[in-house]
Amino acid sequence: MKINYKAVPLLALFSLFQLTAGAQQSAKKALPQLGKSTLKQVINAMTLQEKSKLVVGMGFKMPGMPPPVKGEKPKAIDIGGFKLPPSDPDAYNIPEKVPGAAGRTHAIARLGIPSITVSDGPAGLRIEPKRPNDSSTYYATAFPVATLLASTWDTAMVKKVGVAFGNEVREYGVDILLAPALNIHRNPLGGRNFEYYSEDPLVAGSMTAAIVRGIQSNGVGTSIKHYAANNQETQRNSINAIVSERAMREIYLRGFELAVKASQPWTVMSSYNKLNGTYTSERRDLLTTILKNEWGFKGFVMTDWFGGKDAVAQMNAGNDLLMPGNPDQSDAIVAAVKSGKLSMAQLDANVERMLKIILKSPTFKGYKYSDKPDLAAHAKVARMAAAEGMVLLKNDDNVLPLAINKRVAVFGNTSYKLIAGGSGSGDVNKAYTVPLVQGLSNAGFKVQEELAKTYTDYIADAKAKQPKPRNFFMLPPPIPEMDVNGLLAKEADGADEAIITIGRNAGEGADRKVEDDYYLTAGEKAMIAAISKAFHDKGKKVVVVLNIGGVIEVASWRDSVDGILLAWQPGLEGGNAIADLLSGKVNPSGRLATTFAMDYKDEPTAKNFPGTPEKKPEQVTYDEGIYVGYRYFDSYKIKPAYEFGYGLSYTKFKLSDVAVSSADFKGKISVKVTVTNTGDVAGKEVVQLYLSAPHKNIDKPEQELKAFAKTALLAPGQSQFMVFTLNAGDLASFYTAKSAWIADAGEYKVKIGTSSANIEKTVSFKLANALVTEKTNTALTPQVAINEWRNK
Ligand code: BGC
Repeated sequence: MKINYKAVPLLALFSLFQLTAGAQQSAKKALPQLGKSTLKQVINAMTLQEKSKLVVGMGFKMPGMPPPVKGEKPKAIDIGGFKLPPSDPDAYNIPEKVPGAAGRTHAIARLGIPSITVSDGPAGLRIEPKRPNDSSTYYATAFPVATLLASTWDTAMVKKVGVAFGNEVREYGVDILLAPALNIHRNPLGGRNFEYYSEDPLVAGSMTAAIVRGIQSNGVGTSIKHYAANNQETQRNSINAIVSERAMREIYLRGFELAVKASQPWTVMSSYNKLNGTYTSERRDLLTTILKNEWGFKGFVMTDWFGGKDAVAQMNAGNDLLMPGNPDQSDAIVAAVKSGKLSMAQLDANVERMLKIILKSPTFKGYKYSDKPDLAAHAKVARMAAAEGMVLLKNDDNVLPLAINKRVAVFGNTSYKLIAGGSGSGDVNKAYTVPLVQGLSNAGFKVQEELAKTYTDYIADAKAKQPKPRNFFMLPPPIPEMDVNGLLAKEADGADEAIITIGRNAGEGADRKVEDDYYLTAGEKAMIAAISKAFHDKGKKVVVVLNIGGVIEVASWRDSVDGILLAWQPGLEGGNAIADLLSGKVNPSGRLATTFAMDYKDEPTAKNFPGTPEKKPEQVTYDEGIYVGYRYFDSYKIKPAYEFGYGLSYTKFKLSDVAVSSADFKGKISVKVTVTNTGDVAGKEVVQLYLSAPHKNIDKPEQELKAFAKTALLAPGQSQFMVFTLNAGDLASFYTAKSAWIADAGEYKVKIGTSSANIEKTVSFKLANALVTEKTNTALTPQVAINEWRNK
């Protein structure tokens, strides 16, 4: 039977097995209906079986996954080495509303409860771009990855991305986007760091709130993920992260807290890992006590796909929806209610949270989606955001911007095959990606054509020989850089400048490696050295573009080149956006939201990543406590290659008239600053406010980011006045023994600057008496001792 969904009224989208006899139809009239009756009436009318279905997802499909066979006990399925639990044969065959979406919920037709659809992911809507017997396409915009968006330090821009992104979610018929993701960059090797924003929770939480507001302004939902302490991919489904309550509260939960309070995402996705011995999806203190009770989260919590083990423990913890769902989980829930292991009151609470969100969904409201979002308009947003978040790391002798009448020799595989975004569920099925070489031509540069042809042929040949990935999560091995030595004499003669792109990709299911990934490969180093020598010998310059999703080592090779532009993974318009910056059409205003260390061994987590035992880690101890990213580098005086907050511009700025509103803190305090463009071209600056708090009783980081703002585009000579406000909570640290956030009495130093190292002015104020800014519940206590550094 072929169903044309758009012709079917909303309530007919329900499970087919529930739409049968006419008798049922007439009985339906008397039944409570979602949206017409109170939630209480609807819940009271639900059978235990229906409740157990609603809180368990259905219909999971994956490329290569064979369908379950009706009548046979479903078996666990092995896809390319990944063991997946069985699907429900009944639900599996209910036609999908949106092919390629990650999951759905069960409908309960007799009570007017529709099935809602959820879909990935953080850089764009991940759905199937083509459908059988259908000539239309369903491509989505690949926006820049989260690491780049965070580097814009521009919440208004990130919200704009959210507005465009959410429109695609709505127009393709999806109810909830499984994004944004905001785990902390604990270690540069984290395989999904590209999906995450920053090493700092204020940046991560602010970006999350901004994009959630933008997406949800379309009347669709989000799922902020992965809650919490999911900072690695190695053994991600079982790793036990041992983290102190203080590090959880100050670092790993803080961004979620900010985002929940500021933007009320419709849902939160619990993570795969264990936290202090228990799966996060089974921790009541994490999901109910903290998230729902302390922070006032109003939506529902869903598991990550196949996350956790015990459906009943998950329900009891307040994990309202189990995804993607299998019938065994529903059976376990029914049995647990019957045996008293799960109270009906708890199950009803989970059901109620889900119904509240279903009521808001486009599907419930009968929204007639077009399947035709304005992709051209959204591509423009993607390009603008990409250009805002790229970071100019090095610009000796003002090598950049390049005049567009220049002839450029373009090296490096990813100059020709741009990596728009990472892999796995963070990938997007986009209609095209603009490679750098194309972006350069579009901008008017003359590209060395013979070199371009050699690269194109080389890449096509190497691609044809690549092994096919065994499953959805596997990335093909990167194509080694070609030996360019034989070409250099000619290129250095014919071209005015050299551009070399270094690319990196990563994604779900695996962390990156130190060798040949964090460090450049021998081939890449040789290529940079040889090109630099050939071009420098002729008095010509060399610029490196980094097309990467996470931090790499730069210190050992950066001296041999003149300029470095960190382009991150910039989405489908990447090549154009990079050219916008290289040509000076856009002045770089991105700043690092994550530190680039001098070397991997300088990383505070290097010794504790990805855990022990080495072969197959079971446990990872967050020994560094709160000393993550710049909190570590600044406190322990370790000089990074490029510090947190760093980024160059084609102009210069001056910060002046920095003043604090009062010498004494009374409830709140404000800090003002004037920013002036003192250079020759228009540009934007990011002003950063760091706070150094007195530490009498507990140790504290040297300084912490407490506020930031990006200026408007300032013309040369133009100034902007800014005011930052600090509230009592901004002064506080978490005192574990007292279960409280406390601001210590004493002197607070406010540092205003343009990076964590470049502080232009320090002012101070005093807090006369210590303040308890918030009392919390005791939670998340590690079962094993953590030897945090401050105790050593
Ligand atoms: C990922 C999630 C994603 C989900 C659904 C999981 O493997 O960890 O981030 O939303 O799959 O595709």
